[in-house]
Amino acid sequence: MLVSALCGSLRTGSFNQALLNAAIAKAPEHGLEIVQADISGFPVFSQDVEAAGVPVAVTAARAVLESSSCVLMVTPEYNHGVPGALKNAVDWLSRPYGDSPLIGRPMALMGASTGYYGTIRAQLAWRQMWYFFKCPVFSDSELTLAFAAKAFDENGTLVEERYIQSLDKYLESLGGWLGAR
Ligand SMILES: Cc1cc2nc3c(=O)[nH]c(=O)nc-3n(C[C@H](O)[C@H](O)[C@H](O)COP(=O)(O)O)c2cc1C
Repeated sequence: MLVSALCGSLRTGSFNQALLNAAIAKAPEHGLEIVQADISGFPVFSQDVEAAGVPVAVTAARAVLESSSCVLMVTPEYNHGVPGALKNAVDWLSRPYGDSPLIGRPMALMGASTGYYGTIRAQLAWRQMWYFFKCPVFSDSELTLAFAAKAFDENGTLVEERYIQSLDKYLESLGGWLGAR
């Protein structure tokens, strides 16, 4: 079962990228393969840029999504909402209108933040947006990783036991949900 993934932080040492790396490593134990679609080369969306030609980075990411059974969004939370880089990527991938790889494709969410609520507000904001794409959104398990600076070691390895267990539970449950579809 192939899952494409978008990471909403482009930061060196990102906790969300570290969480996605942990998910990629554990996925095969749960019958999943997670492949990241790189959004780091996406320009800021404008219909002028789009009219001049869809950027190669966008076309490449779109192909990854199209080959997958599900899109996994690994999202930071910025100002109690979704982070701009990931919203920008979604705006690109929503095009052309009516022919987006996001329409109807099952979607799953996880995220890490240094705060107490572990991206729950950003995840809820994404859920509201996904209504537009008519997507089934995975809800059997949640992964909201709080106080991220304590959860990873200096190499970006997930070390906090409760989150290692949460990630396993999440991936097992995601595999079951996708398998039953
Ligand atoms: C512009 C900005 C806004 C932020 N807003 C929130 C927030 O609303 N809630 C929260 O829990 N953390 C917030 N943070 C802290 C992030 O959780 C933290 O920077 C985290 O490390 C970002 O994810 P990353 O490590 O993957 O880059 C914010 C950080 C930035 C830079």
